[in-house]
Amino acid sequence: MKSINKFISTHVMQVAMISIAFYFSSAVLTGCSSGNSGDAANDASSGNLMKDAENAKDDGLGIGPVKHVDIPAEIDSKMADAGKALFEAKCTACHKWQKEKYVGPGLMGVTQRRKPEWIMNQILNPAEMTQKDPTAKQLLATYLTQMTNQNVAEPDARSIYEYFRKMDKEGTSASK
Ligand code: HEC
Repeated sequence: MKSINKFISTHVMQVAMISIAFYFSSAVLTGCSSGNSGDAANDASSGNLMKDAENAKDDGLGIGPVKHVDIPAEIDSKMADAGKALFEAKCTACHKWQKEKYVGPGLMGVTQRRKPEWIMNQILNPAEMTQKDPTAKQLLATYLTQMTNQNVAEPDARSIYEYFRKMDKEGTSASK
């Protein structure tokens, strides 16, 4: 009788301990997913709630100094030429004007899939973008390389955008 009692009480203890352990481990998990660490590994495991929250607040403008930019209908070809020179000097180590990836994504069509503000913020503020912007985060997860900050001035980022816009409008593949 004694040993049965002992067995039961040990068993009850074990169940209790397992429940406590489970309670704490789920508390730790919840703690991770509600943190603002921006850590890609944490965020990947944090489930759909977090993703939904991010998508809800994502305005597609990206994160950085550019909040709003006016793009006139007419392309400024002088600006686009300046942008082309900057692109060739600072970006072609990782990007080509093509659909296929190089080190980073192929940029052909980029002005159709992203807003001008987003593109300029990615150029000016790539590290914060890949930490906090849902789209840039996805790109980092896909390309597994962090785009470097190429020390581009804001007006130069605007010129590069003008070059992209011209290329996408013409639909040309310069493969540079
Ligand atoms: C060291 C390689 C590297 C350099 C140099 C680089 N990039 Fe990137 N770029 C990347 C990678 C990788 C990504 C994907 C996001 C990430 O992982 O950082 C990216 C993403 C982008 C995107 C988003 C593409 C998309 O499909 O939405 C744009 C736009 C871009 N880069 C433009 C530029 C411009 C303009 C320059 C030059 C000023 C430049 N990049 C220089 C590697 C680079």
